[in-house]
Amino acid sequence: YTIDPAQITAHIQPTMYGIFFEDINMGADGGLYAELVKNRSFEFGDALQGWKTEGGNGIVKVVDRSSERADNPHVINVDITSNSGAFSLINEGFRGMGIKKGEGYNFSVLSKQAADSKVKLTIELRDEAGKVIATTDLLPNGTTWAKHSAKLVATASANKAKLYISFKGKGSVDMDMISLFPQHTWKNRANGLRADLVQKLADMKPGFLRFPGGCIVEGRELKTRYQWKKTIGDIDTRENVINRWNTEFKHRLTPDYYQSFGLGFMEYFMLSEDIGAEPLPILNCGMACQFNSGELTELGQLDPYVQDALDLIEFANGGPETEWGKLRAQLGHPAKFNLKMLGVGNENWGPNYIDRWKIFHKAIKAKYPDVKIVTSTGTDPDGARFDTLNTAFRALGADILDEHYYRAPKWFRGNAKRYDKYDRNGPKIFAGEYAAQSVAIASPQNKNNWECALSEAAFMTGLERNADVVAMASYAPLFAHVDAWQWTPDLIWFDNEHSYGTPNYYVQKLYSLNKGTDVVPLLLNDEAVTGQNGIFATASIDKKTNELLIKFVNTTDAKQTAAFDVKGLAKYQPTATITTLQSNKLDAENSLANPVVIAPVVSQLKIAGKNLIVTVEPYSFTVIKLKAK
Ligand code: AHR
Repeated sequence: YTIDPAQITAHIQPTMYGIFFEDINMGADGGLYAELVKNRSFEFGDALQGWKTEGGNGIVKVVDRSSERADNPHVINVDITSNSGAFSLINEGFRGMGIKKGEGYNFSVLSKQAADSKVKLTIELRDEAGKVIATTDLLPNGTTWAKHSAKLVATASANKAKLYISFKGKGSVDMDMISLFPQHTWKNRANGLRADLVQKLADMKPGFLRFPGGCIVEGRELKTRYQWKKTIGDIDTRENVINRWNTEFKHRLTPDYYQSFGLGFMEYFMLSEDIGAEPLPILNCGMACQFNSGELTELGQLDPYVQDALDLIEFANGGPETEWGKLRAQLGHPAKFNLKMLGVGNENWGPNYIDRWKIFHKAIKAKYPDVKIVTSTGTDPDGARFDTLNTAFRALGADILDEHYYRAPKWFRGNAKRYDKYDRNGPKIFAGEYAAQSVAIASPQNKNNWECALSEAAFMTGLERNADVVAMASYAPLFAHVDAWQWTPDLIWFDNEHSYGTPNYYVQKLYSLNKGTDVVPLLLNDEAVTGQNGIFATASIDKKTNELLIKFVNTTDAKQTAAFDVKGLAKYQPTATITTLQSNKLDAENSLANPVVIAPVVSQLKIAGKNLIVTVEPYSFTVIKLKAK
């Protein structure tokens, strides 16, 4: 192999490797969003879903106040009928609650009591066996709605604990927004995120964060589409919506899957900022999911949708003199988020999409010519639907085309050259959702196995080699709860306490941490290395750190010795750092019990002689790093 570090062939965008986030597989509610109470505001289809009562001393009624509070129409009234006897309200959490010994938990409730009522609460966490592992008392007095809070400290850990609210004293209490958060969230923010999960994202040093999806942007029908304006401000006013993935695929049944929007657009922007990623919001284009109802907004009725897009840009980038910029400051973030790009539509297609896109495009470019628009070309990378959209949007001067591919591992190994012939003067490419499927798209049997991850690593050499066209790429979906998922494979799996990165996660992470700033030629017999003898490779330099970075994927079952004739090798330090992901078993996986079966192993290699000679294991992905002297 020859490498010439002085001959740059493409600049690698800082955004190259990023994150796709969607509330699928309990990725947000029940996952990243650290709220432990399910259905805290009684807005699920069954208003008491997730709740149970115990003891005969009380009655719970759901009160409908939709005429006053359409955004949060349900509260409960708990009537305690006598001074003696027992009554408890129990919340089961999202497949239980993960509780850690020694950790503090912040309980809160919005409530009011009848004037003659004297009800006291005991708040407890009980483990799977019913043992109390945290307890405190709370007196929610007052006849007008107010927030009452109490802190609990856990004396033991539990993976599937429950929240018990026990009532003492005769009377009647109205309750809403019953909430329990761990004290330690990411950056210890109130209404915060699960720190272990955010850390996994931060560790990837992602170039961008795409949110909030995915199909949930579209909704099954337009009334359940994602509307960002309803996801900011006081969490009590964020209107809950059924999740588009509710019971989808009937695998791990999730009839209890709603969006509380506690993780809303403000939190997404702040998360992007926290982890150093460019924010990439995707907005509904006036079309519901075409895999479901395909409901359409008439072209003449599109104004509110377009206005949402314009207002979002102002929310992110506007100064204090603007309506939406001022609101951002009032919500605690006076500094601008510096939004540079925005998606219009997700996996929409056909003339209806093109017609709606043109209206958005015209309005956004007229007011914000520098904001790049991400345009969907769908899930059909080799099909007629893709070709039609690709041709149409190129002719319309689109900035960035968002391609999705969920395909067999073989497809990924066979497509390392996919972008070699793309027009260098046309739109940039965003490989916005991709993942090798071990069985078939959306099959519940798909595995995050090594064959899939290795094939993605092979394919990604082609993304990087074509970095002059491919500006961004993200694996999808991102998260999955082991007890409540709809889609496999997924990048990061978790239960209520722990999480692990799949082999695919480590592939993404290694690419992101070692992307470099510019591609340089790595050739075999004057050709790019795109699968000859089962080998895929690419090289880049990092101008900021003066490093040469080689990515080398061996998809064969044999060891390989690679000799790299690096021009100017003597300019580099004589020791290379080698990071390897490897398994002899293509069906190997990580799991909660064995989280690092496949994980990076780092070693040093002394360079002897005039070539860099590296022996790589069968089925391996190796990153070789040389630092200039
Ligand atoms: O990543 C899962 C789903 O796959 C996304 O919601 C959708 O965009 C795609 O079809």
